[in-house]
Amino acid sequence: MDKADEMMRMAQKQRERSMSKEKDAFQKMVAAGYYPSDITLTAQNGRVHAVFSHRKHLLREHLKCTECHPRIFIMNTSREKKKKGFTMANMRKGLYCGHCHNGKRAFSVADLAMCKRCHPKQL
Ligand code: HEC
Ligand code: HEC
Ligand code: HEC
Repeated sequence: MDKADEMMRMAQKQRERSMSKEKDAFQKMVAAGYYPSDITLTAQNGRVHAVFSHRKHLLREHLKCTECHPRIFIMNTSREKKKKGFTMANMRKGLYCGHCHNGKRAFSVADLAMCKRCHPKQL
């Protein structure tokens, strides 16, 4: 095996190690009650439910807490619900989930084919 192959193999190993560390840390934090893995958000009319997954945004997309908290989300599900502006209309203007779900960084809140990804139980 030549030197380049060896280095690639080491880099891959390193990456796997740091990913499993990240996963362990996530599971410990969830188990200790610091934050939930997945959340169901219920809209103000009480009929529409959206799912949000810390697991997918953190472990798969590798986002940092500070990319969402406290600027986009205040980190308190019950207070977020009371805020009147947490609506699709505002998300289409780039607020809340729409900050990233704009068709550029992530699939768009305005795309009819994507409603189900956030609202799996309805629409
Ligand atoms: C990126 C995730 C996401 C996508 C994509 C998305 N929604 Fe939503 N939607 C939400 C969230 C979050 C709420 C607010 C939940 C709350 O108030 O707790 C919401 C709320 C709603 C509501 C409640 C009333 C309102 O206007 O806020 C309706 C109706 C709705 N969505 C329809 C849709 C339709 C139709 C689509 C597809 C065109 C869609 N949503 C796509 C996340 C999404
Ligand atoms: C992609 C955006 C995003 C990232 C990244 C993110 N969160 Fe969240 N978080 C949310 C959303 C959305 C909610 C639900 C709305 C709210 O409570 O603000 C939430 C809720 C919370 C809550 C409140 C849970 C409850 O039941 O009220 C805590 C605590 C929290 N997050 C901690 C963290 C920590 C710690 C990190 C980093 C390890 C993190 N979050 C990363 C979006 C994110
Ligand atoms: C800081 C940026 C950011 C914010 C804010 C954000 N997301 Fe995401 N989200 C992403 C990225 C990046 C992806 C992966 C790219 C893609 O799937 O288009 C993703 C993927 C998703 C997925 C697909 C998960 C799967 O099963 O593949 C869902 C559902 C989702 N987000 C819901 C939400 C909801 C609901 C909110 C608001 C409560 C939200 N996101 C806020 C960045 C964000």
